[in-house]
Amino acid sequence: MDKPLDIVVLISGGGSNLQSIIDQVAAKKLNARICAVISNIADAYGLQRAKDAHIDTIIINHHDYNSRAEFDDQLIQKIEYYNPDLIVLAGFMRILSDEFVNHFHAKMINIHPSLLPKYRGLHTHKRALESGDKEHGLSIHYVSTELDGGPLILQKSIAVLADDTEETLAKRVLVEEHSAYPKVIQWFAEKRIQLIDNQVILDN
Ligand code: GAR
Repeated sequence: MDKPLDIVVLISGGGSNLQSIIDQVAAKKLNARICAVISNIADAYGLQRAKDAHIDTIIINHHDYNSRAEFDDQLIQKIEYYNPDLIVLAGFMRILSDEFVNHFHAKMINIHPSLLPKYRGLHTHKRALESGDKEHGLSIHYVSTELDGGPLILQKSIAVLADDTEETLAKRVLVEEHSAYPKVIQWFAEKRIQLIDNQVILDN
């Protein structure tokens, strides 16, 4: 087997996507090593999930920094300590500076709960319902300097049901996130994926 893919996961909240990554690594379906989990929120439940799995945890509270640049500098330093192959944003709810994004060009991915380019930003499920969409879903993409706008790697759509609420829709999208994200990270572990001239190339 190839060397495991070293990843650093950035979170801000519950960390259910992080948990799915931890579980797939434990089940040996994902050939990765989670070097560290970094959160900008001190009481994010995802930090507990990481601790339970004996993974290094780091808190970088954005309120402790005078500017986005200082926060991002600190984040860069902490990430670089682990020298990861890939940085995985899993519910990380901070906008990152262009400098940060460019620093990790082609080495950072994000999962977003909508079928991008629809509904960048927040409240994606509510917006899909309000628009009367018949389908909704998730997108996994490389991070670029454009918010939720980087090259797409994988999308998964689900049907919106007549009686869906924001909560029921969010829940069903999340279930799909939990299988899609580890799958994409495994593509990186297998070195099947490249970004060339802003195009995602996936080898079969
Ligand atoms: C997920 O639905 C993820 O797609 C979303 O936050 C949730 C995190 O859940 N991310 C974004 O909205 C990023 N723009 P989790 O903490 O349980 O993994």
